[in-house]
Amino acid sequence: MQLRSKILWAAALGSVIAMSAPTESRAATARCQLHDGTRIVCPVRTEAELDAAAKAYDAEAAQMVSGVAGSTYGVAPFDYLTGVGKRTEGTTLMKGDSGYAGKTGKTELWDRVKKPKKGEALYNQWTNNWSPAFKSTLVPGADPNEGKQWYYVYCIACHGWGLRGDGPSASEIDPRPRVLTDGSYMNKKSNLQLFTVIKGGGEASLLSSSMPAWGNLLQDQDIWNVVAWIRMMADVNVPKTIDEYLNPKTTFKPLAGDVDALTAGKSEEFKEAQEENEMTLAGRGEGALKGGGYVEGGLRKKAIDVAAKVKKGF
Ligand code: HEC
Repeated sequence: MQLRSKILWAAALGSVIAMSAPTESRAATARCQLHDGTRIVCPVRTEAELDAAAKAYDAEAAQMVSGVAGSTYGVAPFDYLTGVGKRTEGTTLMKGDSGYAGKTGKTELWDRVKKPKKGEALYNQWTNNWSPAFKSTLVPGADPNEGKQWYYVYCIACHGWGLRGDGPSASEIDPRPRVLTDGSYMNKKSNLQLFTVIKGGGEASLLSSSMPAWGNLLQDQDIWNVVAWIRMMADVNVPKTIDEYLNPKTTFKPLAGDVDALTAGKSEEFKEAQEENEMTLAGRGEGALKGGGYVEGGLRKKAIDVAAKVKKGF
């Protein structure tokens, strides 16, 4: 735990995780509602699974520090938390050569990103090159590739690198972070529901405040992109090979009549939900949502530009 918390990059998360869950009793009636109002048992990991995941992270962190090759989540070539590839030859992990240390001090990814591009965060280049790259979207006006970046920055500590609800902090949180790949649940949640809970956090959806509000860090378009990324990962299991990892096959089918990044502005239901949401988010009134970014990085675009890009095949 010591090691893990030291290495956990998302420093701000410490305070977030320490937050209590004042909405707990109301949450009991709101939790795990599908778009049509029915409720099901929440898809979460068991305590044993989360303990095992936390231990795996600790082991991986220790290996990373000492420069020994190991595996994260049973996917051999991936590094602790960031998922950045360990140094490999083809799909074979090179023994004794970790992503950050060992003889070369390079990861497999360094070999892929031959020359980092100027003007784009190095971290983004790593994650872009060593993670799924989508050529289409299931949420019109939203780009899953960009959503992925935000997810990797803000969400993996709890929801896990593979969206399976098993991040290194998950074992410390009750209620548990949702398994975002569970199609039997997630595919029946509307875009509006996902957008709202991500923007306003658990509290905006009468859930636990252990699910933080991201509306002060992510702009609306970023949130749409994150929703698009989550949609791409429905029922995607732990990959057995690098190819499987890089080419996830989603089961998500858009719900009839649901809002998306292009139509949200015209939806009364969406507008109402957002007005309510924004009241709880400091300094995020209607006007402030447009224009410049609050955080560096990412590739902010308007829904309409994303839609045009998708038409061309990204
Ligand atoms: C500090 C831990 C933590 C972080 C970080 C976090 N979440 Fe969550 N998330 C939770 C917890 C806990 C729940 C379940 C809340 C409950 O059941 O009351 C949850 C629930 C959710 C849900 C499901 C809500 C529902 O209706 O079932 C979604 C979607 C979600 N999170 C997305 C995200 C995204 C996207 C990010 C990153 C931008 C993120 N979360 C970051 C802890 C976290």
